[in-house]
Amino acid sequence: MPKIALLSGSLRRESSNTAVIATIRRILEQQEGCETVDIALRSFPPFDEDVERAGGTEGSRAVAARVAAADALIISSPAYNGYPPGMLKNALDWLSRPPGGGVVKGMPVGIASASPGRAGGANVQPRLAEILTNSGAVVVECAPPVTVGNAVALRTPEGIITDAAVHADLERLVADVLAAVGAPATAPVTG
Ligand SMILES: Cc1cc2nc3c(=O)[nH]c(=O)nc-3n(C[C@H](O)[C@H](O)[C@H](O)COP(=O)(O)O)c2cc1C
Repeated sequence: MPKIALLSGSLRRESSNTAVIATIRRILEQQEGCETVDIALRSFPPFDEDVERAGGTEGSRAVAARVAAADALIISSPAYNGYPPGMLKNALDWLSRPPGGGVVKGMPVGIASASPGRAGGANVQPRLAEILTNSGAVVVECAPPVTVGNAVALRTPEGIITDAAVHADLERLVADVLAAVGAPATAPVTG
């Protein structure tokens, strides 16, 4: 019974990356026995080793435990000047701890990116992958990478993405992540 943690790299209320994550959640929920768990960027305080030494905050402890209990993590990130937003880097710093045995150590992580432009934030993906690899996570190979261009326009008022081509790409990402945790898709992943 795979449990997949989901994390949007944007705080924005009408975020297209959060819409990507919401769509991925729907796809995963169609899979028999598959559980999802939402991870909120705001749960992580600014990383501070003094706070960490004192045991973290209630929020950081709770969310780290939720990620630790998952079999895999899926992130959708915007590109901010070509890099993941600072809040996402901050969350990943928390999840890289403790040193040598961090929360995401050995965990398969699938990556998507979304932007209002045509490239769909493609340039953020190798940078995000590098941070994850340095944190001990195992980035799930997804070829070609899942990038959602024109994403702000594609977001529906319900906060999901129904575009058929994007949906097919997100299904492919989900299938790759499920395969990485040894729990291949149990049903066709259709919208
Ligand atoms: C500080 C900042 C830097 C940005 N840099 C990029 C960029 O390098 N590439 C890009 O495609 N979009 C860039 N954008 C535009 C974001 O892709 C856009 O705001 C996007 O909608 C954010 O994702 P969201 O819809 O999930 O909030 C930037 C936006 C901000 C606020």
